[in-house]
Amino acid sequence: MEIKPTILVVDDEAGARESLEVILEDDYQVVSAGSGKEALEVLRRTPVDLVLLDVNMPEMDGLAVLRRIKAQEEEIDVIMVSALNLARKAVDAIKLGAYDYITKPYEPEDILSTVARVINKQKLYKELDYLRREVEESRGFDQIVSQDKTMLEIFQLIKKVAYASTNIMITGESGTGKELIARSIHRQGNRRSGPFVAINCAAIPSELMESEMFGHEKGAFTGAHTRTIGKFEHASGGTLFLDEISVLRSDLQAKLLRVLQEREIERIGSNRPIKVNIRVISATNTNLEDAVINGKFRQDLYFRLNVVPICIPPLRERREDISLLAKYFLNRFNTAFNKKVQGFSERALESLFRYHWPGNIRELENLVERIVVLSAGENPIELEDIPLEILINAGEMVQELELKKTGLIKLREAFERRIIVNILEATEGNQTEAAKILKVNRNTLIQKAKQFGILLKK
Ligand SMILES: Nc1ncnc2c1ncn2[C@@H]1O[C@H](COP(=O)(O)OP(=O)(O)OP(=O)(O)O)[C@@H](O)[C@H]1O
Ligand SMILES: [Mg+2]
Repeated sequence: MEIKPTILVVDDEAGARESLEVILEDDYQVVSAGSGKEALEVLRRTPVDLVLLDVNMPEMDGLAVLRRIKAQEEEIDVIMVSALNLARKAVDAIKLGAYDYITKPYEPEDILSTVARVINKQKLYKELDYLRREVEESRGFDQIVSQDKTMLEIFQLIKKVAYASTNIMITGESGTGKELIARSIHRQGNRRSGPFVAINCAAIPSELMESEMFGHEKGAFTGAHTRTIGKFEHASGGTLFLDEISVLRSDLQAKLLRVLQEREIERIGSNRPIKVNIRVISATNTNLEDAVINGKFRQDLYFRLNVVPICIPPLRERREDISLLAKYFLNRFNTAFNKKVQGFSERALESLFRYHWPGNIRELENLVERIVVLSAGENPIELEDIPLEILINAGEMVQELELKKTGLIKLREAFERRIIVNILEATEGNQTEAAKILKVNRNTLIQKAKQFGILLKK
């Protein structure tokens, strides 16, 4: 059950518009305009797949309107409708970018077959577009890299569920790849030629959220100057990705539940139900079960969304992936920035391995990007290229220090000691190298080590 393509009928005669509406309305959504000016307005606010444009109109005639339409939206397909004695003009219109023309009087079948031809052509183009993207992705974009057992199990699971339309809930810390997995599910299933539409529930102001989801009719509320199609309608035939679902307001939770049950939506300001055919993949980085227990998230909605749960482990729980991903990102950014950085030194990799990655894969990706951008030449990435905050495991330490509610002096000493120990560990006890990274004199390092009771290698 796909959304019907939308056709805009432009004719100054009401009778002509109506007869086209009757012919088309079974298979298409028909919008009408009585003048060129009105048509341009409709096009500005509504997504339209095809325009049927009368050649002979007062004020702005069909050719003038066509020019304006093409200037506004070059890609849109236009079919001219013209009386036989004006067929010449229709032919001129083709030169201006119209796709085809039909002469009056016409049989309904003429209209339907010409329109179907254009719509089919558009479908083919969309498929082509999709295939092109697919090829690009197989060349490495959007690739999911992992050798972790849990991740490999997730890949298996994705393969199994991709073709069903069951709702899926992805849980994982920030930056673990939730959206990447969601897109991959979409791509592997039979909805791949349909759209993948994402809504980030945390990024959209709460008062705009309902309209973002369901759309609204013109005049539905103050400020609703035009009709707007919501994301649910746009996603029909494809996948809707509801990111950060945990923050969805409770009245919208109720509405979402109803949409999932009834499989139809209503735009704000309209009570005409519109069928939508969507698969919902939702994502959250907080524990939704807790939110259910605390009464913050509806249990019935939770069950509907969480038919297949996928839980992505944080990077620190799949440490073998760290070096794999680091090398993968290095390759990617080498290509992107036309650099030739030759891998990582063993110590540099080791330091990445020991860090706890609170921002997970996104943090690692950003780090490698930064290092590659800053690098000159072809030398491998060394320990000193790794930012200090990673070498000293800053995150872990702050937690530890917060536990000890000691005074500033003690805290500073503990902090300093920990940094020195970590850097010495990372450099395998090489004092010269450690001092360089810490940007202190070697003698200062030795003195501090003594003060804190750190044993130095001879
Ligand atoms: N296994 C992986 N292999 C390659 N790249 C990955 C992998 N996992 C994540 N990435 C990359 O890391 C970045 C973060 O991934 P994504 O946006 O999917 O995470 P997220 O869980 O949705 O994060 P957030 O909670 O912050 O929205 C993206 O650039 C993504 O391409
Ligand atoms: Mg995300």
